[in-house]
Amino acid sequence: MSEEIHPGLEDVVAAETQISFLDAEHEQIVVRGYDLIELARSSTYADVAHLLLFDHVPSEEERAAFARQLGDHAHLPEGVADILRRLPSDTVAMDALRSGLSILAGFENAEVLADHSREANLAKAVRILAKSPTLAANAYRALHGQPFVQPNPGLSFAANFLQMIYGRPADAETIAVFDRIMICYADHELANSTFAARIVASTFADIYGAIVAATAALKGPLHGGANEAAARMFAEIASRGGPAAAEPYLLERLAAKDRIMGFGHRVYMHRPDPRADLLKADLDAIAARDPDAAAMVQTYEIVVAVMEREKGLHPNADLPIGLILSLVGIPIDLFTPIFLCARNAGLLAHVIEQHEHNRLYRPRVVYTGPRDRRL
Ligand SMILES: CC(C)(COP(=O)(O)OP(=O)(O)OC[C@H]1O[C@@H](n2cnc3c(N)ncnc32)[C@H](O)[C@@H]1OP(=O)(O)O)[C@@H](O)C(=O)NCCC(=O)NCCS
Repeated sequence: MSEEIHPGLEDVVAAETQISFLDAEHEQIVVRGYDLIELARSSTYADVAHLLLFDHVPSEEERAAFARQLGDHAHLPEGVADILRRLPSDTVAMDALRSGLSILAGFENAEVLADHSREANLAKAVRILAKSPTLAANAYRALHGQPFVQPNPGLSFAANFLQMIYGRPADAETIAVFDRIMICYADHELANSTFAARIVASTFADIYGAIVAATAALKGPLHGGANEAAARMFAEIASRGGPAAAEPYLLERLAAKDRIMGFGHRVYMHRPDPRADLLKADLDAIAARDPDAAAMVQTYEIVVAVMEREKGLHPNADLPIGLILSLVGIPIDLFTPIFLCARNAGLLAHVIEQHEHNRLYRPRVVYTGPRDRRL
């Protein structure tokens, strides 16, 4: 047994996969053979989800059938809606989503739940993918005493999700940028939450349990929670006076050895995240339309420049996403739930792959505690 420890499993290869790969050297995120940025520029979230789950971009017919399936399964069982209404109002939206996903498992037939065949898993994956936005948006609504908004199967995945969040139809520009964000989040190789899902799946626990574990992992500010933290940072800088306050704010936090959320990444720590570069163009487009947003985007640029100068760190996707979602008026508490709903496509594909080519994850330790103690 090798006794070499790799803290944080940095650079450890823990899975063989056909789903995605971060090619940091070439600054490319490969998803099922495609460049994720290309997909974000010219595809839709539903097509990318189909690609991740079924390993090919859908034909016209498949696209229509997939949209129908997602629409058919988007509603929540009444029992889940009831439970959401009973959650304590202090519940964090991400925790409500995690609990809701766990409860949904109970609405599967027990045999279907325990069936880990590709076919059964794909059917459950479509149901999880379809219901998660309804759950996320309406959990938030329940926690804030707002009426539920039912899914509209006639809308695209992004348009429907936004309508349930806003409680009214979203405009075309917001739908387009939200769809792009969902694609950027769709999969990212063996991210911490994906690994968590694969670890749970490796015991042949069911796909719901694996997704619940991933949801718990994604909440942390070092991972998915970074988009909410980034948004709160922009709000804080705005409250201190806007762009002119950005540099002093950052220098103060760096002097206190704080981490600035939305910067750095285990795989491309000192290289740009291609998703952040892509989404900067969306920030510029929003700034061009709205003078209030322009000041926030100016703050963004100062924050990026100071972090590069002071730490040599580049923004990851969570920095522009945190700001864009704020600027389009989505409540901050929903940012990480949105991340989960988008990442579902990749997570579900990884769980299916794990079940198909399974070996239990069970690493070892270097024990540094005492021995031979006596009672
Ligand atoms: C993502 C992250 C957890 C990866 O961390 P990691 O690979 O374990 O790297 P480390 O924590 O060992 O950091 C290496 C160095 O960079 C610094 N660093 C990394 N990210 C930083 C950040 N966001 N702000 C300030 N300093 C940072 C660390 O302080 C450390 O400096 P040191 O060597 O002087 O102590 C880390 O970059 C981070 O905390 N980022 C902020 C959270 C975030 O945006 N997460 C979303 C990722 S998509």
